[in-house]
Amino acid sequence: QNLPGKTALVTGGASGIGLGIAKALLGAGMNVAIADIRDDHLAQGSAELADVAGGATDRILALKLDVTDRANYAAVADAIEARFGKIHILVNNAGVAVVGPTDLATFADWDWVMGVNLGGTINGIVTVLPRILSHGEGGHIVNTASMSALVPAAATTIYSSGKAAVTSMMECMRPELESRGVICSAFCPGAVQSNIAEAGKTRPAELAETGYAEADKRRQAGGNFSHLYQTKEQVGERVLEGILNDELYILTHSEFLVGVKERGEATTAAVQTHLPENPEYKQTFAMLFRNPAI
Ligand code: NAI
Repeated sequence: QNLPGKTALVTGGASGIGLGIAKALLGAGMNVAIADIRDDHLAQGSAELADVAGGATDRILALKLDVTDRANYAAVADAIEARFGKIHILVNNAGVAVVGPTDLATFADWDWVMGVNLGGTINGIVTVLPRILSHGEGGHIVNTASMSALVPAAATTIYSSGKAAVTSMMECMRPELESRGVICSAFCPGAVQSNIAEAGKTRPAELAETGYAEADKRRQAGGNFSHLYQTKEQVGERVLEGILNDELYILTHSEFLVGVKERGEATTAAVQTHLPENPEYKQTFAMLFRNPAI
């Protein structure tokens, strides 16, 4: 990847992990558009990016975006192209979280988190992928998933299943798009210092009903461990490295090695190896599902 002079769009790019990624991409010489639902984050994020650029703000664009709003998304993509010409890197990063016992979750809990974390990512793919393909200069898509997509965590069902979906999206798109010059990566970090605990501030009124109010108070009373988390700058540089190396899985925290291995071993052990293989089926599977040309 030759990044200098090319353009990246980072959703949720005005705070936390997205801002860390935006800083790293700006530092690598890219034009960077951060798009975010919060005006205060856009102001703060723009200021931090201007510092990285040494005050030269011509490579920075900050735009208001609700990733669940498709018309808003198209207008933002138009504005970036009007300013920088093309979009080469899309980082689907905007995200929110609620956690708690699955039996207490309301439809609104599910709809809000899935709407932003999965729906917003779908909107990014549908809006921006054709634009990347049409200019023919190649590109990269990074979905910010989470380690929770790979290592099961109790009482995070809504959040983790949405993150598993955006990981799977990258796994499926990777072989399909590689030959057309677009590389896909799933970014699966462990805990990172950010403002995600404030996510409720952007929760729409029509999706306000939560089953988690008490569960969340208990969780918060459990303590604040943020001093143990990685910084947004650390993970931003890691994402840049993953982009430069064309990595499918961009991982961060080595503490999760055991969990990642256990999952791989459990799924491997569950394969019914005592049953005979049907070579024709195996070949058909390989032809139909692993062939990017189809
Ligand atoms: P953050 O709250 O600091 O940043 C997220 C940004 O997304 C905020 O600026 C927020 O205003 C914006 N946003 C929220 N809803 C939006 C919408 N509908 N449209 C546009 N922008 C919206 O949180 P953080 O932690 O940096 O989260 C970024 C991503 O990283 C999320 O997808 C999150 O799930 C993921 N993640 C976070 C981890 C952590 O420990 N902080 C660990 C693993 C993944």
